[in-house]
Amino acid sequence: MLFHSALGALLLISTTNAYIWPSPQLDALEAVRFDQLGFTVLPSSISLFVSPCNLFVFAGANSGRSDAADWIRTAYHDMATHNSTDGTGGLDASIRFPAERTRTENIGDGFANTIGIVFQVINRYVSMADAIALGVIFAVENCGGPEIPFRGGRTDADEPNAPGVPEPQENIDSHVASFARQGFTQTEMIGLVACGHTFGGVQHSVFPDIVNVLNDPTSTEDVAHFDSTFVTFDNNIATEYISGTTQNPLVVGFNDTTNSDKRIFGSDGNATMHSFADSPKLFASTCADLFARMVDTVPTGVKLTDVITPLPLKPASVDLVLNGDILQLSGFVRLWNMTEDPSRVVHMLWDDHAQGTGNTTMGFAGTSSATHGKHSAAWYGFNDTVPHSPIGLDPATGIKSLSFVVNGKLEDQGGLGFAVQDGYMLSATSCSMGNNPLTGRVDVAVRNGVNPTRVYLEMTNHDSVGRIVITEIDIPRPPQPVAADSAYSLWSLNMSDQNVVFLTFNIGAEIDGVKYSTTNLLRLNSFAPCSQ
Ligand code: HEM
Ligand SMILES: *[C@@H]1O[C@H](CO)[C@@H](O)[C@H](O)[C@H]1NC(C)=O
Ligand SMILES: *[C@@H]1O[C@H](CO)[C@@H](O)[C@H](O)[C@H]1NC(C)=O
Ligand SMILES: *[C@@H]1O[C@H](CO)[C@@H](O)[C@H](O)[C@H]1NC(C)=O
Ligand SMILES: *[C@@H]1O[C@H](CO)[C@@H](O)[C@H](O)[C@H]1NC(C)=O
Ligand SMILES: *[C@@H]1O[C@H](CO)[C@@H](O)[C@H](O)[C@H]1NC(C)=O
Ligand SMILES: *[C@@H]1O[C@H](CO)[C@@H](O)[C@H](O)[C@H]1NC(C)=O
Ligand SMILES: *[C@@H]1O[C@H](CO)[C@@H](O)[C@H](O)[C@H]1NC(C)=O
Repeated sequence: MLFHSALGALLLISTTNAYIWPSPQLDALEAVRFDQLGFTVLPSSISLFVSPCNLFVFAGANSGRSDAADWIRTAYHDMATHNSTDGTGGLDASIRFPAERTRTENIGDGFANTIGIVFQVINRYVSMADAIALGVIFAVENCGGPEIPFRGGRTDADEPNAPGVPEPQENIDSHVASFARQGFTQTEMIGLVACGHTFGGVQHSVFPDIVNVLNDPTSTEDVAHFDSTFVTFDNNIATEYISGTTQNPLVVGFNDTTNSDKRIFGSDGNATMHSFADSPKLFASTCADLFARMVDTVPTGVKLTDVITPLPLKPASVDLVLNGDILQLSGFVRLWNMTEDPSRVVHMLWDDHAQGTGNTTMGFAGTSSATHGKHSAAWYGFNDTVPHSPIGLDPATGIKSLSFVVNGKLEDQGGLGFAVQDGYMLSATSCSMGNNPLTGRVDVAVRNGVNPTRVYLEMTNHDSVGRIVITEIDIPRPPQPVAADSAYSLWSLNMSDQNVVFLTFNIGAEIDGVKYSTTNLLRLNSFAPCSQ
């Protein structure tokens, strides 16, 4: 079964993989990838945790540790269980299981720390494994590194993977074999270790046989760093190694058995490390490729999306509510790679069901920024009078699709328009009967002539292994049509009659074999009180 946003229509049939708005999963992945800081409509402020790059939220400043380093190590350890022969393991968030995390090969609290932070971005379209991948990408990009192509669609394991993370006391043959099993050549192994170990270091408390107590007030958790710039992506890991000045505890550690970086970096006569030391550019581009390979190493059968690129113009939080005789259309549009510009004029145009069109000027609503301010976006609300308020439309003619004109230039997805689904929506007659017990009535307005197979509430839940699942609660088809106005009829659910109680939900409907879901999370106790 296809799955669409409630505001979507049947537009993706002709294209194979291209990202056409609306596409709930791609819209959500694109948002979490690119709307990192700033504008209020989107939830992901996860990159705050790597701004500044020496931030370590679990200890004071000068701990010597950083969230950025934890995130990168976590992703590697989650991926390193991959067996490229049988396709098992890989980046699938199996590291979240205590049974995997407490193995000797996964010693340290960085994994638990990471899971607590990075999993804040998950939702029904962004898995825990996607969130771990984004953690690497944000850490590297925000801290001086190259941009890394991001694909979404990872699935989360339902049990721990087989062990397989390399440890420092292994010999070089064992490491070469381990990386080969993970899908990386010896040269790629040297690269991936150098790319990872440009961040962070080894902690005394975790590896007392590798690092002594340091008595260093700038490294209170006794972390001996891999290079002198341990919260910055740069090629110092290579220049310091080649020049012989390195303090890397896995190169110049007092016990040669655990000097794994020394054996790995030297395993091709230093050729790869020389090339990295000679060229920061080569180091950055190699690391961008290898980090992308690392996060895209997933169990067989998982199908990743194409690389997510930002839509130049993207509608967001688009929603419809039937309020009496008015169809309220609300939302925003994001203009990528643009800053505030008072002289810019943005118009929104729309088509209705009666060959009619509409035209309004949009209001500037704010800016957002991503990747330490490298990218910015300007946001406009659908109504310029009050940028966050809806536009009132005539329910009889409804709305089919949007397009936009920015300083005279038409943006309509190559003629497709931005489809809007007005076949069903929340009715403002929905009401709340208070919080204790939490109850009320949800009224869904269904457009006359549209004949949904089902209308239901969607509640976000977690399954027994922490994955997000959607529970659907059917709204019974009314035995007799209950007119909302001349164009819509109501389907209602009295929540007191339900044995599940929930505060927030979306509304879903199945129309002509396609499942739709409303964009914005609805909140039962935000509805007007029910008149008794
Ligand atoms: C043979 C392969 C590897 C070995 C033996 C190894 C070993 C280690 C050890 C012993 C630590 C110290 C952990 C602690 O004290 O908490 C460490 C830290 C780290 N490793 Fe590796 N590593 C390997 C490969 C990689 C790879 C491929 C990456 C990423 C691409 C990576 C990323 C990191 C990062 C970012 C840290 C710092 C963690 C922090 O400071 O919190 N490592 N590694
Ligand atoms: C990887 O999978 C192959 C095929 O199932 C198996 O023979 C091999 O032992 C596995 N490797 C490891 C390290 O488990
Ligand atoms: C060096 O490390 C290895 C592996 O951890 C250990 O077995 C050995 O006892 C250590 N040697 C010394 C001299 O501490
Ligand atoms: C590689 O570089 C290290 C550090 O400068 C040096 O100690 C080692 O001898 C070099 N190995 C080779 C094979 O040149
Ligand atoms: C962003 O906009 C600037 C100025 O309009 C343009 O020069 C630049 O190429 C754009 N960058 C991207 C990545 O689109
Ligand atoms: C929309 O309205 C503006 C004036 O408010 C007008 O300049 C513009 O041409 C109209 N655009 C379309 C496509 O109708
Ligand atoms: C914009 O919002 C204001 C206030 O809610 C409303 O009066 C006005 O009619 C709206 N404009 C359009 C074009 O719907
Ligand atoms: C829901 O049903 C209960 C009885 O089961 C009734 O008391 C209540 O008034 C109904 N609520 C609404 C909003 O219709």
